[in-house]
Amino acid sequence: MKQVMLLFRCNHRTIVFLALSVCFIARASAQEILIPVETKTNALVLKVSPTKDVNILYLGEKLSHSEEYNNISGAYRQTADYSNVLASAYTSAGSRNLAEPAIAVVHADGNTSLDLRYSSHKTERVDNNSSLTSVVLKDSLYPFWVTLYYKTYVKEDIVEQWCVIRHKEKGQVTLSKFASANLQLKAGSYWLRQYHGDWAREMQPEETLLTHGIKTLDSKLGTRANLFQPALFMVSLDKPATEDEGTVLFGSLSWTGNFRIDLEVDYQDNLRLLAGMNNFASTYFLKSGEEFTTPAFLYTLSHQGKGKASRNLHDWARNYRLVDGKGTRLTLLNNWEATYFNFNEEKLAALLKDTKKLGVDLFLLDDGWFANKYPRNDDHAGLGDWEENRQKLPNGISYLVKEATANDVKFGIWIEPEMVNPKSELYEKHPDWIIRQPGREEHYFRNQLVLDLSNPKVQDFVFGVVDGLLEKNPTLAYIKWDCNAVIYNAYSAHLKNQTHLYIEYVRGLYKVLERIRGKYPTVPMMLCSGGGGRTDYAALQYFTEYWPSDNTDPLERIFIQWEYSYFFPAIASSNHVTDWGRQSIKYRTDVAMMGKLGFDIVVSKLKPEELAYCQGAVKQYDSVKAVIWQGDQYRLTDPRQNSVASVLYLDKDKANGVLFNYLVSGRFAAGSTLPIRLKGLAPEKSYRLREVNLYPGTTSSILSDKTYTGEYLMTVGFNPDVRSGRNSVVIKLTQANR
Ligand code: GLA
Repeated sequence: MKQVMLLFRCNHRTIVFLALSVCFIARASAQEILIPVETKTNALVLKVSPTKDVNILYLGEKLSHSEEYNNISGAYRQTADYSNVLASAYTSAGSRNLAEPAIAVVHADGNTSLDLRYSSHKTERVDNNSSLTSVVLKDSLYPFWVTLYYKTYVKEDIVEQWCVIRHKEKGQVTLSKFASANLQLKAGSYWLRQYHGDWAREMQPEETLLTHGIKTLDSKLGTRANLFQPALFMVSLDKPATEDEGTVLFGSLSWTGNFRIDLEVDYQDNLRLLAGMNNFASTYFLKSGEEFTTPAFLYTLSHQGKGKASRNLHDWARNYRLVDGKGTRLTLLNNWEATYFNFNEEKLAALLKDTKKLGVDLFLLDDGWFANKYPRNDDHAGLGDWEENRQKLPNGISYLVKEATANDVKFGIWIEPEMVNPKSELYEKHPDWIIRQPGREEHYFRNQLVLDLSNPKVQDFVFGVVDGLLEKNPTLAYIKWDCNAVIYNAYSAHLKNQTHLYIEYVRGLYKVLERIRGKYPTVPMMLCSGGGGRTDYAALQYFTEYWPSDNTDPLERIFIQWEYSYFFPAIASSNHVTDWGRQSIKYRTDVAMMGKLGFDIVVSKLKPEELAYCQGAVKQYDSVKAVIWQGDQYRLTDPRQNSVASVLYLDKDKANGVLFNYLVSGRFAAGSTLPIRLKGLAPEKSYRLREVNLYPGTTSSILSDKTYTGEYLMTVGFNPDVRSGRNSVVIKLTQANR
């Protein structure tokens, strides 16, 4: 109205023109609302059309002049969007949509259509780095709402996206698909880097060009959900991103259960991305007034390659997600591979002494310490019976904890509280607590079954395992929480709706972990799942670290840790030195240092110089661990493309760093023939590079009194002289005062 009046009152041509454009913009903004979700570098811009459809207008680098987002649609000359919701911010099934939906429902009256339209939106400031945008969508006919949430972490360029579904229909609504996020990217081509694996073969990458149609990454395993495939992936635009170049989106679903990620290249050549809990066997019946909250989909978009994206995620994980992400961690000696199930008090007493001798902080007692009627002497029996085995430990855990204190080390313990062996008292007493199909033959994974965590009584039991240990032993300093079985024969004696089991299991697990963290907020806990069967940022909000793989062969570990390190910071990666692999103790220890160092070896069997090496390495680690844990990680030479793998950790001040270099090829003359270019340094600063972790009796071939500028090290590089005979080289970098 105002604009029209303005138009009539003026007769000067320029003013008329000005007034017209004001009028146009005002009209456009009255009918077409733009909702920008911005981080430091990026913007996701949603557009509400005059018909109240909420579509994605843009996902890419942030523009300085936000009014220019209005020009974006005009820049694309793609074929028609027949439905006007091909780019929907949350695609609903059953009405106009022709593509893979984010949500599909059956209303209380049996109708299968859903047409979500804009209702309102707001952006709230969470703190000076975070804001929360919520967009309320409502079905045009039914009292059915979806609220989309976008939480930004500005500095880290991270967005977390989830939604809440609710209705007020007469009766329950059936949810048959319920994604957390629905994104759209536009580029000439899309390159997916995904991961597959199995026990001891975690994080095997594959990179492919996405073709038209849908590529689905998913899990149906229930508990050890990431065993064959984690919910971690990258999508590069136009060409595969390299470490430092290219636009790449890193995505991850924060959910410790079945997931489904659909990547659809549509007929317009856009990439539609839908991520959420897997709807496989999980139809959900939602009562009137009840809220269904999806897990968060987490993503970061980098325009400087994979390295930058990974550093964004590392910063975010340490600042916001991991328990004690900015704190410290305990180095340890674990007895799993040293004794397996075969130990007693005497053997453990000796290991406590070895822990001290080695110089690490803590002794971790692994599997085999519990159960009496069916003693836990191998993995066929005893799981679920969490009282100390009287034969092995006549004086109980409390005695061991005290003994540890007497030896000036801390004590930690292994548990697997979600699981049960059929040969156990728990199985005999509470058959209804176990996930299994009535009347069907039981099927075991590692000779065990999964407890039904959807049942509050089972939640109490699992909480009680941890609480009991910590109540009795307040100085217990560490818990390794394992999960070795998948869910077979999914059936709950507790739930009315069987299709809720996969979801309610995970929610039950979070309730337990929430209670544990409520009572014990800081006790360090390792998230283990027979290796990397659980690697997600929802579980990691309750843990200090995770166990990447049972495969500790250092050569394999270089590759496994390399890929994990794109998504998780080194402080969260539990790396143990074991007897796997044929490399020297130096090589094994050096590789384990690129994370949270631990040992799982028979210390008493080490040769004197091997022991001396390990003791020296632990001391050295103490002097560089802050940089590894809290610094920036730069991948310098990729073991998949070079005969040397090289990784640099550099503190935020760019003053101290540590550079790890390993020979990964046995071929003739393999090694660092060329200098390795460093990254992230301050060009004008001078640095001194000194080899550390030298094996007793050897000397370094590197001159340690020389200094180099950051510029030189990043332009020409540095040669760590890696070759056979020097197959693992660790260099400490310190700023030199010239
Ligand atoms: C799993 C873990 C191992 C060890 C064993 C114990 O395999 O990954 O580290 O704890 O269980 O049974």
